[in-house]
Amino acid sequence: MKPMDVTASPGQSAIFIIFGLPDRQKAREPVKALCGKLPALARSLKNRFPKLGISAVMGFGAEAWQGLFPGRPTPKELTPFQEIRGERHVAVSTPGDLFFHLRGGRMDVLVELASQISADLAEVVEPIDETHGFRYMDSRAIIGFVDGTENPEPEAAQAAAVIGSEDPQFVGGSYAMTQKYLHDLAAWNELPVEEQEKAIGRRKYDDRELEEGVKPENAHNAVTNISDPDGRELKIVRANVAFANPAKGEHGTYFIGYAATFSTTKRMLENMFVGDPPGNTDRLLDFSRAISGTLFFVPSWDLLAELAEE
Ligand code: HEM
Repeated sequence: MKPMDVTASPGQSAIFIIFGLPDRQKAREPVKALCGKLPALARSLKNRFPKLGISAVMGFGAEAWQGLFPGRPTPKELTPFQEIRGERHVAVSTPGDLFFHLRGGRMDVLVELASQISADLAEVVEPIDETHGFRYMDSRAIIGFVDGTENPEPEAAQAAAVIGSEDPQFVGGSYAMTQKYLHDLAAWNELPVEEQEKAIGRRKYDDRELEEGVKPENAHNAVTNISDPDGRELKIVRANVAFANPAKGEHGTYFIGYAATFSTTKRMLENMFVGDPPGNTDRLLDFSRAISGTLFFVPSWDLLAELAEE
């Protein structure tokens, strides 16, 4: 079962699209047709622009999955994302039926792919969000810190992001958690760099991890560093990019985490928003507000082809 490009690098540019399906019955045929067509659309651009690292991922929200393919079982951990409410921070839940994550070296090529997808679905979708993201400086989040360093290496990335024997009917699939964050960049930039470094848990200039004893318990990379009961680290594959509308004062991070089991991502979110122990919330959230939150299931390429034939 060949997974979609869930472990691809974040890309120089990225487009994230979330659609709603107001009438799932009516949407069935056009969505199935696109499931059949997407591999060829992506392949064509990969062939035409081999150096750009173009990749495409398509995902389904829980209600859309059940509505579009009523005879099929549901992936074990696919439910609508439930809001996570801490005392001070909220990971909001927002709607979404279909999801596309397009990545590559040139925005114009991604726009062509997004346009083809959108044209094919135009009659049956309502756009919920489209975000155009970019790689900022040397792979930094817009808050100035290198983002992605502790992502697992390629082989480990497959294990972290791609469903295996734990859910046999969905091997090769993945859970994509998406969240759009807006940062209070003015307040963040007022913090001395040393305080920013304590919020992230790494040094700003050279990305070195803060030593034990210096790194606070509420640093972002402390609360998101989790293990299983045997002490093995639990990882997800992140492909965050920055987005910005400077004239409107908007600076943000589009968080996307691919995981073999959504419970891993969920635990990281609970640690960030509620704290473990409760109250030890992520310092980064004092400067970052989640304005969306949606969970999608990404089938393998093989399952996508089956859906087209359904
Ligand atoms: C406001 C949005 C976010 C920003 C700007 C951000 C940025 C960063 C940065 C700069 C790092 C350190 C470098 C690295 O290892 O990648 C990091 C680490 C990490 N982040 Fe985030 N992140 C955000 C949201 C999230 C969310 C929502 C999750 C999980 C649900 C998450 C999970 C992780 C993990 C697992 C690590 C690695 C921790 C370790 O060192 O073991 N991040 N993030």
